[in-house]
Amino acid sequence: MKTCQLVTVLLMLVPSVWSISDRPCGNDTSNLWLDLVLVIDNSQPTNTIYETISGIFGAQSRIGTHYEDPRSSRVAIITYNNDATTVAQFPTFKSLDQLKTELTVLKNDGTSGNESYLDTGLSSAQAILNKTEDRMNYKKVVLVFASAYDLLYDRPDYISHALKSNGVTVITVYTGNDKTVKGQLKSVASDGFAFQMSVNTTTDLQNALTMINCFCFDYWTWTQYNHFGTCMLYPGVKGNQKAARKYCKSLGLPSNLATEFNEDKRKFSYKFINSFDDDSINSYWNGLISENSTWYWDQPKGQPLIPLDPSSGSISTSTGCVADVKHSDGSVAWTPISCSNSFYFLCEAKACDTDNYCD
Ligand SMILES: *[C@@H]1O[C@H](CO)[C@@H](O)[C@H](O)[C@H]1NC(C)=O
Ligand SMILES: *[C@@H]1O[C@H](CO)[C@@H](O)[C@H](O)[C@H]1NC(C)=O
Ligand SMILES: *[C@@H]1O[C@H](CO)[C@@H](O)[C@H](O)[C@H]1NC(C)=O
Ligand SMILES: *[C@@H]1O[C@H](CO)[C@@H](O)[C@H](O)[C@H]1NC(C)=O
Ligand SMILES: *[C@@H]1O[C@H](CO)[C@@H](O)[C@H](O)[C@H]1NC(C)=O
Repeated sequence: MKTCQLVTVLLMLVPSVWSISDRPCGNDTSNLWLDLVLVIDNSQPTNTIYETISGIFGAQSRIGTHYEDPRSSRVAIITYNNDATTVAQFPTFKSLDQLKTELTVLKNDGTSGNESYLDTGLSSAQAILNKTEDRMNYKKVVLVFASAYDLLYDRPDYISHALKSNGVTVITVYTGNDKTVKGQLKSVASDGFAFQMSVNTTTDLQNALTMINCFCFDYWTWTQYNHFGTCMLYPGVKGNQKAARKYCKSLGLPSNLATEFNEDKRKFSYKFINSFDDDSINSYWNGLISENSTWYWDQPKGQPLIPLDPSSGSISTSTGCVADVKHSDGSVAWTPISCSNSFYFLCEAKACDTDNYCD
């Protein structure tokens, strides 16, 4: 390739490489930290189910709780047909190898029973979770592989509703092809977590689990920014820019005045800060900081500031302060303004995820 061609190619690559966005959720399947209950219908052939499950955890996964690194997962296994069997409780598996060995044993056991009573499987999962009182900062997940929507005693959607209202995420994987059953299982699953068995199910489940493992620890106060690994907080107090910045750094976790890397985040921030009160907030501080006549984004204490990327927007001055201000035409724009104004503001912090353990 000639140099000029290379330069052209590089120039064309630059915008996408450098376009700046919020922190994505960690997606390292070796570092999942969850409590997972597998609920497996074994009234039908299940080979692909066990293979699918075996592929979910990354090779370095810590299964069990005896590790120095707290990013470990516990796995329980329930099989069901005419009735449910608890094959393994949370303390059972102490390594990924041990889990995989059990999955092979179950695969070789083949099918049993002639019914598929989903409620029995879900109730057994509920029984395990009901008596689980440790690792409260670890997300609880029930992952169901079902070939039907049949019940012996209780409606499966009621049981899963009870699970969901206790903060458990329910994932369903349907191994059949019936439209009605598909809809019924959707009502059992948490929103967006009803899958159909396919060659892609391992990937679907990896994505689902890393997404579930990405959350704001104190969800009463912090709100996740869309599907990103970023959490936002509205303190509901006013201050000048210096005080706002200080406030965001004093929250007991690495946090800073909120960034606005792109238009989506800017829109999100405006909506978010205006979602608490009837009075609209039309001026608020963001994390833009001028240092040495250059604009930077505020970062947590001890971390270098992030230079403002031109793709995020520009500012007509190089010193002083800017705030998000809503103008008469309805647009919200970065507006140079005296640093001593007392405005509301948003703080932000990293979400808890496979890269970032929180307790
Ligand atoms: C995981 O995240 C990284 C960094 O955001 C990304 O480049 C990669 O494509 C993701 N991998 C998967 C399997 O989603
Ligand atoms: C399962 O077996 C029982 C007893 O043999 C029988 O009554 C029932 O109808 C069977 N169910 C199905 C779905 O075949
Ligand atoms: C779990 O607890 C809920 C409410 O605390 C209760 O309604 C349910 O019956 C319990 N389930 C099991 C299987 O123990
Ligand atoms: C599996 O994923 C590939 C690549 O994303 C896609 O083209 C294919 O349609 C998917 N297959 C099924 C059965 O979902
Ligand atoms: C601004 O300049 C000072 C003095 O040269 C330097 O210590 C500081 O690191 C600079 N700030 C940034 C964000 O580069």
